[in-house]
Amino acid sequence: MSGIQIKDLSFAYEAGGKLILKDINTEIGEGEFVCILGQSGCGKSTLLRLLAGLETATTGEILSDDVAIGEPSLNKGVVFQDYGLFPWMSAGENILLALKQRYPKRDKKELKEIAVNMIKAVGLDESIYKKLPKELSGGMKQRCAIAQAFSLDPPILLMDEPFGALDAVTRARLQNLVRELWTRDEKKKTVFFVTHDVDEALLLANRILVLGQSPSHIIYDVKITEELHPTRDTLFENIDMMKLRITLINQINKDVTTHI
Ligand SMILES: Nc1ncnc2c1ncn2[C@@H]1O[C@H](COP(=O)(O)OP(=O)(O)OP(=O)(O)O)[C@@H](O)[C@H]1O
Ligand SMILES: [Mg+2]
Repeated sequence: MSGIQIKDLSFAYEAGGKLILKDINTEIGEGEFVCILGQSGCGKSTLLRLLAGLETATTGEILSDDVAIGEPSLNKGVVFQDYGLFPWMSAGENILLALKQRYPKRDKKELKEIAVNMIKAVGLDESIYKKLPKELSGGMKQRCAIAQAFSLDPPILLMDEPFGALDAVTRARLQNLVRELWTRDEKKKTVFFVTHDVDEALLLANRILVLGQSPSHIIYDVKITEELHPTRDTLFENIDMMKLRITLINQINKDVTTHI
């Protein structure tokens, strides 16, 4: 069970301070891959932090299958833009640490095997296991962060511009990887993926939300059925997708002049 219900959510960082989010109401179904778009500063990361339990709603509530989403937990994997690996541990130890929290009763050898398999599954050589994060490229670190998130196997995965700092080729590879990892699970993870890249959203999501200007609420909400779902090769050939692309860009830029 891993749907998310957001009810009348408003949020300010300080009591009585400026509202960043206002009147957010939506339901994210179990297994939906939701991308959230919006201009810089509109509150995308704030909303993700609320879903992660790293911030608390000022008013309203966030439920996961009727229970308050509450504290950060192993039910929710989070991948941030800055990788989130401990710098003093090797890549493998970082993944192992997460696995030990998730499966405290399993023996270390078995968990190490899972960690090595995940490192391979994200297209890295197993020698990466022993490398410190500082010895890895940005793309490799981000692959490790994805390996860590997926080896925890959380029903809810929250990703905040995880590919924002990567070059276009690595970014495209990792987009394919995340989509593949999500697709291969019979019981799909519920994914909430923040991006400001419309094409990334079209390639990954089966639902796209747009946040307006702050105090933000959801100004656009569209589902993309599996039959319509574009691939990298078909994205720019598909008329419906191109129309949607223009609509999304217009929605994101809607009231830009009043906020510059
Ligand atoms: N810890 C904080 N304390 C106070 N204000 C904050 C804090 N973090 C963010 N803000 C403010 O909240 C608003 C929304 O920020 P947020 O980081 O959620 O935007 P965003 O949509 O993720 O932007 P970007 O696309 O640039 O990452 C901004 O005005 C920002 O200045
Ligand atoms: Mg952000």
